[in-house]
Amino acid sequence: MTKRFLQALKGETLNPPPLWLMRQAGRYLPEYREIRASAKNFLDFCYTPDLAVEVTLQPLRRYGFDAAILFSDILVIPDALGQKVEFVSGQGPQLAPIKSEAELEAILNLDGLHEHLKPVYTTVHRLSKEIPETTALIGFAGAPWTVATYMVEGKGSKTYEEIRSIAYSDPVFFQRLIDMLVEATSLYLIEQVHQGAECLQVFDSWAGVLSERQFHTWSIEPMTRIVEKVRAVHAEVPIIGFPRGAGPLYEAYVRETKVDGVGLDHTVPLTWARDVLQPLTTVQGTLDNLLLVAGGEAMDAEIKRILETLGSGPFIFNLGHGIVPQTPPEHVERLCALVRGEA
Ligand code: CP3
Repeated sequence: MTKRFLQALKGETLNPPPLWLMRQAGRYLPEYREIRASAKNFLDFCYTPDLAVEVTLQPLRRYGFDAAILFSDILVIPDALGQKVEFVSGQGPQLAPIKSEAELEAILNLDGLHEHLKPVYTTVHRLSKEIPETTALIGFAGAPWTVATYMVEGKGSKTYEEIRSIAYSDPVFFQRLIDMLVEATSLYLIEQVHQGAECLQVFDSWAGVLSERQFHTWSIEPMTRIVEKVRAVHAEVPIIGFPRGAGPLYEAYVRETKVDGVGLDHTVPLTWARDVLQPLTTVQGTLDNLLLVAGGEAMDAEIKRILETLGSGPFIFNLGHGIVPQTPPEHVERLCALVRGEA
């Protein structure tokens, strides 16, 4: 059975383009909120295959997306490495921060990684058997830089001042941390493919705060190593990189990491993406997630503009960042109809 999502990642131009949405499983769906209430905390939820499989399938039933993304979180990696991670409701993730080489050596290690992540692998395996035969299964991880921001700052940040400063002032510690994350992330992604993932996406959600030199060192270089490590084991699996906010540095990212697809945020000019990025790789995006909240004429017009500009090359329709909880599910329905040419 051909899966349209995988065809697009091989460089085929499809009309209509395949469609899925980042964070397509989540709080905007009443059926998600209902199941979420039955788990005692968010990490437990991610580590319970019965629940994780069910919420992965929910948006497929409603919208018939071309891809399913494993339900988990990027912060299972620090958790599996031995750092204390908690999701506090209303406040987002909280970690016991690691700021020095001594703390890194004392706390983090790779030994229990696979054992700790077993429930996630079970979820992937079960999903590979349970999703519709035309739907592709995406495994994922956070990129080292983005995961490191939470590990060092201890929570989400607006400015990333602390981690950017440490990356300049203590490059030995910071390189050790990134190297460990390259290793852990590669092992994690390789095992997801063993268990049935057909594509991998690496989220570098906070890449946009880096200077040009830092972007090369802390986003491109680690991602290049992850791509090489994964391909050394699974030569065929397509890999999508999402260095959100990279601006003109998207081009160097695509050329150097050699990803099969690139996720574009909503700030990327569409004609530039068509002319510069699309000849190099499959592009994915780029609707502003807040326009999906707003809906109406403005959303319709932007969806049309995106389809007209990027639809003539290898393209996967998506948002520029994940769905937010206040999104009306009927706007997602409208988006699907427009992208599929049914509206
Ligand atoms: O459909 C999917 O995409 C589901 C899988 C998924 C989740 N998180 C579930 C989740 C994926 C791919 C992620 C990635 C993720 N997690 C990223 C990168 C992508 C991005 O959006 O930038 C980041 C930075 C995280 C870290 C994270 N996880 C934060 C900052 C938060 C709290 C913010 C919030 O919205 O509350 C989470 C929690 C989280 N991860 C939720 C979900 C559905 C909400 C928690 C809940 O239901 O209680």
